[in-house]
Amino acid sequence: MKAIVCTKYGSPDVLQLREIQKPVPKDDEVLIRIYASAVTASDTFIRGFKIPLKFRIPMRIMMGITKPRKPVIGLVLAGEIESAGKNIKRFKPGDQVYGLTGFGLGAYAEYKCMKETDSKHGCLALKPATLSYEEATVAAYGGLLAFQFMEKGNIRRGHKVLIYGASGTTGTTAIQYASYLGAKITCVCSTTNLELVKSLGADEVIDYTKEDSLSLGAKYDFILDAVGKSKTSKLKEVCKKALASDGKYVTIDDEALLLDSNRLNRIRELAEAGFLKPFIDRIYKMEEIAEAHRYVEKGHKRGGVVIEINRAIS
Ligand SMILES: NC(=O)c1ccc[n+]([C@@H]2O[C@H](COP(=O)([O-])OP(=O)(O)OC[C@H]3O[C@@H](n4cnc5c(N)ncnc54)[C@H](OP(=O)(O)O)[C@@H]3O)[C@@H](O)[C@H]2O)c1
Repeated sequence: MKAIVCTKYGSPDVLQLREIQKPVPKDDEVLIRIYASAVTASDTFIRGFKIPLKFRIPMRIMMGITKPRKPVIGLVLAGEIESAGKNIKRFKPGDQVYGLTGFGLGAYAEYKCMKETDSKHGCLALKPATLSYEEATVAAYGGLLAFQFMEKGNIRRGHKVLIYGASGTTGTTAIQYASYLGAKITCVCSTTNLELVKSLGADEVIDYTKEDSLSLGAKYDFILDAVGKSKTSKLKEVCKKALASDGKYVTIDDEALLLDSNRLNRIRELAEAGFLKPFIDRIYKMEEIAEAHRYVEKGHKRGGVVIEINRAIS
């Protein structure tokens, strides 16, 4: 099968398209024919080993010293079950699925074996029928992150919610989730993305490249920092202080992403009910993986960036 191999930690050019052995599922595994993967911030961290100094030694021991121990990277997949081991209960051949591979990696390939149970090696669920494979990759990654952190807000109808960094994979999904919950949504992004976030459900938009204050007395019941602690602005510092008395501020780096198939099921329900339509920025072919990583690494993707793997009829 074709797979993208990370030959060593380094620039996007270390990623190379190669022929490798197609995996064979064990009794407790499914074999997934992958139709789409995604290039996420997490993939670029792994490829470039962009790990904070204090974690570098333990992470090298865990992930591999000079290159990832699992040569095929890739965290997100959507595809079809080609075969299922005899102990598999949740899935059958032909099922369309989506999910994350976690520490199992391996989504940049034509095939991947996964267990049906959640673990640090991934989570899998039936794909939303209303979404293409490409859209499903955005829903999986953006949805798991957005739902996990938004759920901490106990958001109810009429609550004022501010999403800082609203135009990325997590941000665009978080807007739609907040809109489903009936919140009044304020979004922060740069000039080029103002119209996009409005179209997804923002009631008010603020351009962090032009504004460094909020309107007088603005207070929010919940604030999600969807871009993480490494990306900041004067406005972000102001936002942190604009909480209602029982409001909550959450940043996406507060805790590790949970690989949770129940949450994937909930994302599917919302997508199928028409509340979630993932936004795709660009779709690349496997051969264009280095270019895709270079683009994502700039830190300004809009919604999700997808890798098309096998030609899908979706
Ligand atoms: N907790 C975990 O386990 C976990 C797991 C995975 C990812 N993450 C974190 O989740 C974050 C979000 O991932 P993602 O893939 O959704 O992000 P993303 O799509 O890469 O987000 C990019 C967005 O960030 C915005 N941005 C860049 N610099 C900004 C700044 N200074 N102020 C405001 N917005 C800025 C950009 O918008 P503009 O172009 O408008 O600037 C762009 O749309 C990443 O930082 C990643 O580290 C956490």
